[in-house]
Amino acid sequence: MNVLILGSGGREFSIGLALKKDKEVQKLYFAPGNGATSELGENIAIAEYEELADFAQNSEIDLTIVGPEAPLVDGVVDIFKARGLTIFGPSKEAARLEGSKVYMKNFLAKYNIPTARYIETDHIETAFKFIETLPVPVVVKADGLCAGKGVIIAATHDEAKKAVSGMLSGKSFGDAGKKVIVEEFLDGYELSMFAICDGEDYILLPAAQDHKRLLDNDEGPNTGGMGAYAPTPLVDDVIYQKVKERVIRPTLDGMKAEGAPFEGVLFIGLMIVNGEPLTLEFNVRFGDPECEILMPLMKSPASELFYKAATKQLDSLNVEFSDQYAVGVVMASRNYPYKSSEPAEIVVDKVVHDDIADNTHISYAGVSREDGRLFATGGRVLVCVGLGKSIEEARRRAYLLCGQVHFAGKKLRTDIAYQAL
Ligand code: AMP
Ligand code: GLY
Repeated sequence: MNVLILGSGGREFSIGLALKKDKEVQKLYFAPGNGATSELGENIAIAEYEELADFAQNSEIDLTIVGPEAPLVDGVVDIFKARGLTIFGPSKEAARLEGSKVYMKNFLAKYNIPTARYIETDHIETAFKFIETLPVPVVVKADGLCAGKGVIIAATHDEAKKAVSGMLSGKSFGDAGKKVIVEEFLDGYELSMFAICDGEDYILLPAAQDHKRLLDNDEGPNTGGMGAYAPTPLVDDVIYQKVKERVIRPTLDGMKAEGAPFEGVLFIGLMIVNGEPLTLEFNVRFGDPECEILMPLMKSPASELFYKAATKQLDSLNVEFSDQYAVGVVMASRNYPYKSSEPAEIVVDKVVHDDIADNTHISYAGVSREDGRLFATGGRVLVCVGLGKSIEEARRRAYLLCGQVHFAGKKLRTDIAYQAL
């Protein structure tokens, strides 16, 4: 099987790494890929979707996997499918679950999927009135994609009103903020669950926990994610069952009823409040860095999972997961998440300890290659992944690997997985 992966992050690297181990996979391409994916396969410098479809046709690509949300929201899946190509990801219509928070919240309400109490509006007075009825903090969200910045947790009613005014006037996020969600703040613990869907059936992956804040103890600004681990002991069978019955099943049935069956990765951002899973958000792709720790936990071939999902055959698939734990620690560049940083050469010391060498690896993200040398050029540069029989063991190994990786300005959290320990 020849596979094309769209994207350039650590998420796409980790999917590539899993496919590389898979005997079924002959050729692996990344578009555009990064300075390290070129070691796993071939990087293709094509950005335009029709041209990518041409490439897939001409290069006999059997399966295309879409990593990030932007091409999905743009409709890359529809373009490939119109050409008869096999592609794993949701249609443009189904990608609205991530592309529009208003669509998502109204969908949740329509199909009785538990979520925070909210209103959706483009009217400032309506928003202000609802804000007054809520206890603080109040959550304000821009409707459209804002690169992870469109959610404001306002400590006071005034701050919430300012956030609404900024969004509705178009000043904060342009058109993406022309409609807003105002909702109640949920106090609990957050989880990420990932269901690989084929429109009808799904395979649920082990529950993960991300660490969105930049600094230890969940302090500092929000980021794309500074580390993750799975499976998390914060989820027991009762919670898995509730998520399946109350979130995933009604979502798949609901999307079918809406005429937009959901194929691809359904990423469910959950807040567990008093043992009840409430849906915070949907994303329509893998989380990053969650993907980097989930891929190594798959025992079954990754190509089969993605291919069967893309061809509506999940009902006949049995996926096995490792009984290990995975912990991933993100190493970011000096100025992340504020601004870009000077490129810095990455040096990885040889890991001499077999125990560490055999149970860790690096998933590369914001890196480029020059004369065979690797440079940190992005915000989140790489993820050190450790595997082990316990979270403690996986974590110890991940951090030992971090100690072997050097680049100027590197920063990382030292408390990944703390909630599980
Ligand atoms: P979202 O993009 O909707 O997941 O929001 C980003 C982050 O904001 C989430 O991961 C949560 O940490 C936080 N958040 C969003 N909505 C709420 C809410 N209703 N209550 C508490 N925290 C929230
Ligand atoms: N790690 C969270 C995300 O990918 O959105």
